[in-house]
Amino acid sequence: MTIKRGGFTNRLGFVAAAAGSAIGLGNIWRFPYEAGQNGGAVFLVIYIICIFAICFPVMVGEIAVGRKSQSDAYGAFRALGNKRLAVIGGFGILCGFMILSFYNVVAGWAFGYFLEIVFGDLLQEKDFGAFFSSYVTDFWDNLIYSLVFMAATAWIVMKGIKEGIETASKIMMPILFLLLIGLVIHALTLDNAWEGVKFYLWPDFSELTIKTIYAAVGQAFFSLSLGMGALITYGSYVSKKENITRAATVVTLADFSVAFLAGLLIFPLVFSQGQQPTAGPGLVFVALPGIFQHMDPLIGRVVGGGFFLLLCFAALTSTISLLEVPTAYFVDEKKWPRKPVVWGLALTIFIMGLPSLLSQGASPFLTNFLFYEGASKTFLDLISDVFSEVGLPLGGFMISIFIAFKWKTRNLTAEIAQGNPEYPGSKLERFINFMITTICPLFLGLLFIVTVLQKFFNIEVFHLIGL
Ligand code: TRP
Repeated sequence: MTIKRGGFTNRLGFVAAAAGSAIGLGNIWRFPYEAGQNGGAVFLVIYIICIFAICFPVMVGEIAVGRKSQSDAYGAFRALGNKRLAVIGGFGILCGFMILSFYNVVAGWAFGYFLEIVFGDLLQEKDFGAFFSSYVTDFWDNLIYSLVFMAATAWIVMKGIKEGIETASKIMMPILFLLLIGLVIHALTLDNAWEGVKFYLWPDFSELTIKTIYAAVGQAFFSLSLGMGALITYGSYVSKKENITRAATVVTLADFSVAFLAGLLIFPLVFSQGQQPTAGPGLVFVALPGIFQHMDPLIGRVVGGGFFLLLCFAALTSTISLLEVPTAYFVDEKKWPRKPVVWGLALTIFIMGLPSLLSQGASPFLTNFLFYEGASKTFLDLISDVFSEVGLPLGGFMISIFIAFKWKTRNLTAEIAQGNPEYPGSKLERFINFMITTICPLFLGLLFIVTVLQKFFNIEVFHLIGL
């Protein structure tokens, strides 16, 4: 029996699905708190350089590898390389698995906030910081919300590529974008908003540290859904007529715009409300309700609820891409039927997310799980640090090495040329090939070593060699 592979119906289908995968909690929840903890504007500068110089070429590479191989993340490296190299794909699948386990928990928070704003009294709270801290310790509520979220994800992935993913992305993303713009305009008129804008847009390079760099690179990979084969998997469903470089440009710009706007919304709010930009993972949940509280109560409920609902949809188009990667692996490689694979994986990942869920105060042991980088870390922090901040750029490193030395850039060019006949010989081709063969492997390889040593072993490499 041959199992038919899915396929995107048209160009917008792929771009919408890839943008849907990219735009999610990473942009609205993670980006502002990472920027807030890492110097604000300096972080933004490094982030921008990284997405265009490092991530964009890797993204083009991933999509091309997927389309050429017509395989899942694991099979792609075997098809274009050999069986041993398939571990690169295997590592990516593992990262996606672990990322989804905690991502789903945070998505559950967003869903809970939607319900609390619309049907509860969240907007009457006096102290949103205290509310959030106690909210995330509630085991049962969070268990149910994240279960609902995972079930919704599994349901869409089960229905296959076309119907599920495309429709959801096409309607929800533009609405979210417009709402964000409206909120930003509103936030900029608040008292002290300017302080936030300064923090976010006026770089103080004396704040630049190694941590700023690895945090920004990790964030860039996370936000663009890179480094673990999500775009290899999506790329395998793309038609040969698709212009890959154009699609990657649109996805990168769309993803960046949403993250940029989220920062431009959160920091003015944080400063006008006298909060701390360094608050960490709760930042958005603590800062954002304030803007809805000051609206007319009914309007606040509608707009605030609407915002968190849209955030849930953005998260959903990301979780489906995270679940699609291991699903494609079992369906393509093991020839298992799609339906039980999807539900089995969803249940397993949900259970693996429980320690992360409990690590927000419900379990003291998991909450103060480890101490590194000069701070006490929760179990969720650990999984996020290992599998996204370190794991994804490492995946990007391996993918660029693979393209540069095994698959070869001439095959990359030939693949991109289908759908983009002007590509061979263009400046863009030279740029991408140079980056993929030189800068990406060198920078990401070095960064991996420096990050692991500094983060987990407190060894500052550049200090050691006297820099
Ligand atoms: N990019 C998504 C976000 O910003 C999260 C995500 C979806 C992801 N698929 C991924 C991250 C694959 C890494 C790899 O919310």
